[in-house]
Amino acid sequence: MLKRMVAIGCFGTALLCATPAWVQDLPAIKSTTVELPAGDALFPGGASADAINNNCLACHSPDMVLNQPPLPKATWEAEVHKMINAYKAPIDDADVPAIVGYLVQTKGKE
Ligand code: HEC
Repeated sequence: MLKRMVAIGCFGTALLCATPAWVQDLPAIKSTTVELPAGDALFPGGASADAINNNCLACHSPDMVLNQPPLPKATWEAEVHKMINAYKAPIDDADVPAIVGYLVQTKGKE
């Protein structure tokens, strides 16, 4: 009995350890570098941009905003509320006027 178990054990181990012919070598993993286009990290304008920098960069870069065409104030207001209501941006109501003010100043249209 013991002999048979040893024999089965040895045979099983040999089966498990032998590398079958269809197993391919792992592909070599090489490091590479990718040049991504540089985007602005912050909204320009110093202190006047504080409110928008503090509230509008959690989910996308400034380019998402700065690449929009000039828009009327009401459209910017609606856009900020869309971020809050549709996308759940955690923005304090008290910061909304300063954000809209910045947007009108930099990307506003009569
Ligand atoms: C909670 C995440 C979040 C925050 C914070 C946020 N946004 Fe967005 N924003 C999004 C998403 C999601 C989109 C849609 C992205 C897409 O379509 O690829 C978007 C898109 C935009 C667009 C492109 C037009 C559009 O409506 O799709 C503008 C402009 C914009 N955001 C402005 C702002 C401004 C201004 C703020 C700050 C008041 C802000 N976002 C903060 C999530 C956010």
